[in-house]
Amino acid sequence: MTLHTPGIGARTPAPGTTVPFVPSAPLVGPTPNSAGDVAFPEGFLWGAATAAFQIEGAGAEGGRKDSIWDTFCRVPGAVHAGDDGMVACDHYHRYREDVALMKRLGLGAYRFSTSWARVVPDGRTVNREGVDFYSRLVDELLGADILPWLTLYHWDLPQAVEDDGGWPVRDTAYRFADYAVAMHEALGDRVKVWTTLNEPWCSAFLGYTGGIHAPGRKSPEDGLAAAHHLMLGHGLAINALRERDPEASLGITLNFTVSDPVDPADPADVDAARRDDAMFNRIFTDPILRGAYPQDILDDVAHLGFAEHVREGDLEIISTPIDVLGVNYYNGGAVSATPQATDDGAAPDGTAGPDGARETPSEGPVWETRSPNPVPDGIYHHSRGLPTTDMGWEVQPEGLTRLLTRLHEDYTGPRGTALFVTENGAAYPDVVQGDGSVDDQDRLEFIDRHLRALKDAVDAGADVRGYFAWSLLDNFEWALGYSKRFGIVRVDYTTQERTVKASGHWYADVARTSVVPARTTDGPAQ
Ligand code: FCB
Repeated sequence: MTLHTPGIGARTPAPGTTVPFVPSAPLVGPTPNSAGDVAFPEGFLWGAATAAFQIEGAGAEGGRKDSIWDTFCRVPGAVHAGDDGMVACDHYHRYREDVALMKRLGLGAYRFSTSWARVVPDGRTVNREGVDFYSRLVDELLGADILPWLTLYHWDLPQAVEDDGGWPVRDTAYRFADYAVAMHEALGDRVKVWTTLNEPWCSAFLGYTGGIHAPGRKSPEDGLAAAHHLMLGHGLAINALRERDPEASLGITLNFTVSDPVDPADPADVDAARRDDAMFNRIFTDPILRGAYPQDILDDVAHLGFAEHVREGDLEIISTPIDVLGVNYYNGGAVSATPQATDDGAAPDGTAGPDGARETPSEGPVWETRSPNPVPDGIYHHSRGLPTTDMGWEVQPEGLTRLLTRLHEDYTGPRGTALFVTENGAAYPDVVQGDGSVDDQDRLEFIDRHLRALKDAVDAGADVRGYFAWSLLDNFEWALGYSKRFGIVRVDYTTQERTVKASGHWYADVARTSVVPARTTDGPAQ
């Protein structure tokens, strides 16, 4: 299979300037693709995504040792119901069956991650058995004509590397690049699409500042140091991979928010939205795609020692041209400088409070956490009264249109970097029917509406070349354990039986035809 894209492109050198924050507002009214059949461009890539820790299981098999997530799962109260990744979806043993399932679904690509803790369990020595698992998986995918889209880091740092200081320590960036080279040595003959990191925002700020994710530290300074070293690790790995394989498609996946000021006429709200956008989006897009940290961020965090970690030459490494920017989008947010007032005076669940917490507090971990934003004061998220998913996240498809358009115009378009939506999807509490089927119209509609929004961005000129549903399978949703189901395929965790949900059958048709069909059963899509 050929991936028509990642045109190596012009590889424009990063100009080293930053893009100022421009206040934005939701799109209102029907958009061109909000109803009827929507056909996607020829060659558009359809896939589904997972991550190693969330599905593999086999936590202590094949020479694998603890990652920070294994350790975190043992912290009382840190993970819902004390769930862990020891068995998960047992994908380590069932990967053949899972690849066969992907083939039945007609997927063109499978985005998965390799576990650093399986491949380099002690943080220094390559474990052949671990590498061999991924080699077998890749062969199985290629045999099924499915493009392997490999992510090197989806949050499961070997505990041994954390014991040496983890991401706040500069050396971790170099160890990550060594691990990338080890993977490329083993798989580079067959894997042609490489993603360095998944969502460094989560690794740095949920992990080292908010304490919501592993390793559970609660330090603004550590989160910022981690963010920079993740960037450095990304840049070092891109350089090493490029040197070994100039034709490979290389990139990174970031998670984005769309920060809209609650009152665009209030300078305080606009500034709160600017700061939210800065610490979520621009702290990563700007060094990678423009070769500089934004000055407003450097000013905002000046007291936290961030600049001391940025050594001469780092930004040049970090801004090494990439072919693909992976975009993970779930929702945006309405941001204000003041808390949201409610009828009873209480903060609305999961929305107000210090900036950035993605989990719903009432159902989230009981272990104490803080805001993942290192500088959260005076940033409040307001509910807009939109429908929410089982995560408490507002459903906001039009945000995806604006996000992709902005990324294309401000960052990727001028550099010839292709955009792919590498994650999008929704958790809903599925109901299993008497015959075992799952008629998840809510998830189906969520994906339908986001695909229409994606096509609006393509029509507006954004170079978006593929979409990956999150997730192929129900799986371990981090601090929320197995309580949230994102799969287009249901997993019965007792029997490990897989059942394709209505959304999965529908998505298979979309992947096969490259057309999102008009909704006929329950009215037109909005
Ligand atoms: C993203 C993660 C993915 C999953 C989804 C719901 O932030 O990359 O592993 O947890 O959210």
